[in-house]
Amino acid sequence: MLMSAGLTRRQVLAAAAASSAGLVIGRDLRAAQPEPRRVRVGVVGTGARGTFLLATMLGFPDVEVPAVCDVDSAAAERARDIVEKHSGRRPDAYTAGESDWEKLVARDDLDAVVIATPWDIHARIAVAAMRAGKFVGLEVPACLTMDEAWDLVHTSEDTGQHCMLLENVNYFRNVLAMQRLIREGVLGTVTHALVGYLHSIPNLSFTDDGKLTWRGRMKAKLNGNLYPTHPIGPTAWWMNINRGDRFVRLRSVSTKPRYMREYARRRFGAEHPLARRQYALGDTNTTIIETANGHTITLYFDICSPRPYDLIFRVQGTKGCYEGNRDSIYVEGSTPEGQWEVFSTAYQEKYEHPLWRDLAAEAKKNGGHGGCDYITVHQFLKSVRGRTRPPIDVYDAATWSAIVPLSIASVANKGEALDYPDFTRGRWKKDSPIPLAGA
Ligand SMILES: NC(=O)c1ccc[n+]([C@@H]2O[C@H](COP(=O)([O-])OP(=O)(O)OC[C@H]3O[C@@H](n4cnc5c(N)ncnc54)[C@H](O)[C@@H]3O)[C@@H](O)[C@H]2O)c1
Repeated sequence: MLMSAGLTRRQVLAAAAASSAGLVIGRDLRAAQPEPRRVRVGVVGTGARGTFLLATMLGFPDVEVPAVCDVDSAAAERARDIVEKHSGRRPDAYTAGESDWEKLVARDDLDAVVIATPWDIHARIAVAAMRAGKFVGLEVPACLTMDEAWDLVHTSEDTGQHCMLLENVNYFRNVLAMQRLIREGVLGTVTHALVGYLHSIPNLSFTDDGKLTWRGRMKAKLNGNLYPTHPIGPTAWWMNINRGDRFVRLRSVSTKPRYMREYARRRFGAEHPLARRQYALGDTNTTIIETANGHTITLYFDICSPRPYDLIFRVQGTKGCYEGNRDSIYVEGSTPEGQWEVFSTAYQEKYEHPLWRDLAAEAKKNGGHGGCDYITVHQFLKSVRGRTRPPIDVYDAATWSAIVPLSIASVANKGEALDYPDFTRGRWKKDSPIPLAGA
């Protein structure tokens, strides 16, 4: 008799006996299988982004959320309502002050902790969560100081726990198609990228009753590129940063801060303290990064000046150029000389990334930002289930986020060139480029 995979002779005989007794074999065979393992996630910071990530995670049938944490109890209650409505079980909430997340990360019924708090406590919570044996999903940026960046790396290495930066722009459909197109050599060697995050959101710096929000407090005291990872994440993948190349130097300059006071004057009146106070953050920050292989990146950051949202992606290779804003590409020898082709019609489908091929339907139905949030969460949960190195690992989290402290230091020193630390300590020379894998 052929033995079914994974079943003992005794189980097969028992199933046969049940069958001859008129019972359904399937039910008994199923009884022999272990229950599929649940992925248990705790969420710290259930504001706008944390709530969104929570809802996206609950769309995966094996996800459970036993606990949430927010200093704002109304935010935590909203998150509890969402989980209860979805699963019938009301999660525990930690709302007793700035450090109550310590109790959440210490729980022994969590596989992972997702962190979507203000930036200045990301690294502290992530380090504590890894020390408590949890897989971390961390919102962007991972940290604000060099010490925090190294702490993340050292803690991950010491504990063997992973920390994935939840950089969703890496999972945009065009970004991933470009990943494949570049890997297949269509642009030749990528030598330069001109990228940036330009988002006019001065409103998020102030409360309606005339106080600074946490974003406003950051702008009041820090001057540099405070939010680099949306444009630098995709660029790092396209240029194989930490996987064949690495950042070696950075210099950064900022314009004078002008618009925040102007905005506050219009919103609150010329005599209001917010219209009269100093803001450290210059309106536009420009950072130049050099890589070990002799390539460069110009990186813009501006989150106040008036203009429509503008996530700049311009990638120059030895055989052509991609211009994301214009949805355009030029490929030498194929595009008519002196013209652009439309990327989305001429190249997008041809170079569709396997992740989008496999997940497009679910992503469009369930994910924000055009579906990329679903794919980000999908990739995070996949790594948590397998306890495997995530596609955006702790070295990427530290490298991409270190632009924050390095640009601040460079701006403070008249654009001085600063050496970039190698968070991988040489591993970048051996590591292969990010795989073009499907779901
Ligand atoms: N990837 C993206 O597209 C994207 C989009 C928006 C925001 N974000 C990131 O998500 C994070 C949160 O941003 P947001 O827009 O949700 O901000 P938010 O202000 O809406 O939410 C932050 C939440 O953290 C809570 N919080 C503050 N201190 C806390 C503490 N000590 N313990 C527990 N909770 C605490 C706040 O009460 C608030 O509810 C930021 O890092 C931001 O950069 C990412």
